[in-house]
Amino acid sequence: MRHEHLISAKQLSRGDIEAVLDRAAEFAADPGAHSDSHAETLLGLLFFEPSTRTKMSFDAAMKRLGGDTIDMGSVDSSSVKKGESLADTVRVIEGYADALVLRHPSEGAAKLASEFVDVPVVNAGDGAGHHPTQTLLDLYTIREHAGLDDLTIGIMGDLKYGRTVHSLAHALTNFDADQRFVSPESLRLPQGVRYDLRNAGAEVHEHTALEEVLDELDVLYVTRIQRERFPDENEYRSVAGEYRIDAATLESANPELSVMHPLPRVDEITPEVDAMEHATYFEQAHSGVPVRMALLDYML
Ligand code: NCD
Repeated sequence: MRHEHLISAKQLSRGDIEAVLDRAAEFAADPGAHSDSHAETLLGLLFFEPSTRTKMSFDAAMKRLGGDTIDMGSVDSSSVKKGESLADTVRVIEGYADALVLRHPSEGAAKLASEFVDVPVVNAGDGAGHHPTQTLLDLYTIREHAGLDDLTIGIMGDLKYGRTVHSLAHALTNFDADQRFVSPESLRLPQGVRYDLRNAGAEVHEHTALEEVLDELDVLYVTRIQRERFPDENEYRSVAGEYRIDAATLESANPELSVMHPLPRVDEITPEVDAMEHATYFEQAHSGVPVRMALLDYML
């Protein structure tokens, strides 16, 4: 990869994406066979927001490559609680680790951190901004199930605050993908994201009803309403539960449709869907390890 830091999906060219996904496929075929690749390498995990998948799969990926991780732990148990700035925290931890993975509630935090350190910084989610490594594993899963060209994908849910959507939509502009954005009016893509997508040559088709597009889709990417980003809880309640996928919803879908979700889900996909052929979200989460192995292998 050409870039020292990975901050936004906008940095990823088609060539970068294909190189990471090809390497990830090699790691997925035999994850245990690479434990000498990065012995002695230490990855710093700095998670200022909750995480299960992203943090644990980075941890597993680094260890599968023979390296190890050091973890700042929760904000409550770190010096952040004493008022330490992000800049100071990362300047200290760069002395302990060979690369840093950062998740933070503020948009722009990873970019800011990258300006203070010399080791590579990977953005593991910055507020409602970007989440480029999630995108790489999403693309890996899409490629396995539907292919990345001639793809028709519905992206549904919280398109305003959902950082996984902002990154995925941008990365898909590298491919010949028809993107259909389905959300309540109040949770449409932010102006800036729409502008960037159009600038990258994409058409932005927006819908409020899934039925308008469902039968055309190869992939339906469902997202959680990002409750923690709503300035007003009433506003959240007015849209919560508006889009829910159950077995009945999928009756009119293409039989080959893959239903994806970055997880965690709350109630967007009912558990009855889990047993259907369409359900791809757990497999998607599992690909986080080989994809992050591939990314670390390129960056380190
Ligand atoms: C997502 C995130 O943190 O943005 N989770 C993840 O990394 N798999 C999605 C979400 O929290 O809804």
